[in-house]
Amino acid sequence: MGFPTDFLWGGATAANQCEGAYLTDGKGLSTADVMTAGGNGVPREITDGVVEGNYYPSHKAVDHYHRFKEDIALFAEMGFKTYRLSIAWSRIFPNGDEEVPNEAGLKHYDEVFDTCRQYGIEPLVTISHFETPLGLQKYGSWTNRKVVDFFLRYSETLFKRYKGKVKYWLTFNEINVVSTKPWMAAGVDSDDEQTRMTVAFHQFLASAKAVQLAHEIDSDNKVGMMYNGHTAYPNSSDPEDVQATTDFMHKMLFYSDVQCRGYYPAYKLKEFERDGIVLPIQDGDLEELKKGTVDFLSFSYYLTHVVGKESPLVFTGLNGVKTGYKNPHLKVSEWGWPIDPKGLRYALNLLYDRYQLPLMVVENGLGAVDKVEDGRIHDSYRIDYLKEHLKEMKKAIELDGIPVMGYTMWGPIDIISASTGEMMKRYGFIYVDVDDEGNGTFDRIKKDSFYWYKDVIATNGENLD
Ligand code: BG6
Repeated sequence: MGFPTDFLWGGATAANQCEGAYLTDGKGLSTADVMTAGGNGVPREITDGVVEGNYYPSHKAVDHYHRFKEDIALFAEMGFKTYRLSIAWSRIFPNGDEEVPNEAGLKHYDEVFDTCRQYGIEPLVTISHFETPLGLQKYGSWTNRKVVDFFLRYSETLFKRYKGKVKYWLTFNEINVVSTKPWMAAGVDSDDEQTRMTVAFHQFLASAKAVQLAHEIDSDNKVGMMYNGHTAYPNSSDPEDVQATTDFMHKMLFYSDVQCRGYYPAYKLKEFERDGIVLPIQDGDLEELKKGTVDFLSFSYYLTHVVGKESPLVFTGLNGVKTGYKNPHLKVSEWGWPIDPKGLRYALNLLYDRYQLPLMVVENGLGAVDKVEDGRIHDSYRIDYLKEHLKEMKKAIELDGIPVMGYTMWGPIDIISASTGEMMKRYGFIYVDVDDEGNGTFDRIKKDSFYWYKDVIATNGENLD
């Protein structure tokens, strides 16, 4: 009973939100490097290149690039079995279209993986997490099929270089964000549905081919898809509210349908027919999608949505995260995100029922303002949030029999928020002394939750009450 003995406990970060060093060792600019800081309710801006006078949080972030040894040592102290991190594509191919990779970038991640291995930490690598080389803008980024080949060159470089060091891979972080924030997901700033669906098709194709390459290069490789765990409840038992919820979920789930099943679902093809959307399919592409289905499904889980017939696909909410109608049963975070631990068990069941694939929760956590008092951070609110979610995940394993491979809490060390670009929206077990303007000592401080999570891992989740 309880969590499996080989359960992968850990934490997750993304390069553009933690590394900083945005031009160090030959790195090129990425789409994340031209996003300014926003705030609670203030959207981030995308600028035309780096414009003097603006503050870009990814440029310094929390300097993980230079401090990864100290940070991974702290993860090891908590007992991490895995560390989910992403590789910055523009460190390896600075403009995205070079023939030869940047050795300094490759060497950096060699050191990161060696450090993980030294502590027995299994790296879980996201190949593309909300950053595309800015140099690919001249091709129209992911609207252009050429980018599929650039991505494959990049992926092949990683699979060959890190063979034996990395065996768990995710192709695209939250691929369904193409439908909500395409600049982040794909470096394409467009509201046009035809454009977004072209981008999604190219990413599906790139992912399917990368899955096959990963398996050919090392039969030990396991490649997952990563779904932004949209989960929605109907606003009432009115069948029309229920239908609106189904329609909403289809908008999101078609991404995992394609990547887990290897083909576009009928409901999506019908929608394309109605809306006149045409995919740029070439000979052999549909076979590639079939051959490149993923080995497991990973997802992020922070909140749930409520959907109703009046505004089925128009959502209200803060910070571009649109959660729909207010759920009277749930409290919300300081950033307006509904807190719904039970929804995690619901999401695990929904995804397992649909695909029968091993699942992994690769992001979950509470963004909150932390106060430092006498050099300590008493973050009982974070412990409560995480504990309740872990209890529900445990029920999904014990009571529902769902094979959950692991859990990587989001932002085990404080990092930049993706939606707002703020530093004050902190998730970590480890506090970083830096503010919203990038000022501070960058010192790391263990919060109360650090010791709590250490105990959770040491007891394999047995003491959650
Ligand atoms: C996920 C992303 O959507 O949510 C992360 O994969 C992101 O990159 C996380 O940081 C939490 O969101 P935020 O906006 O609070 O940082």
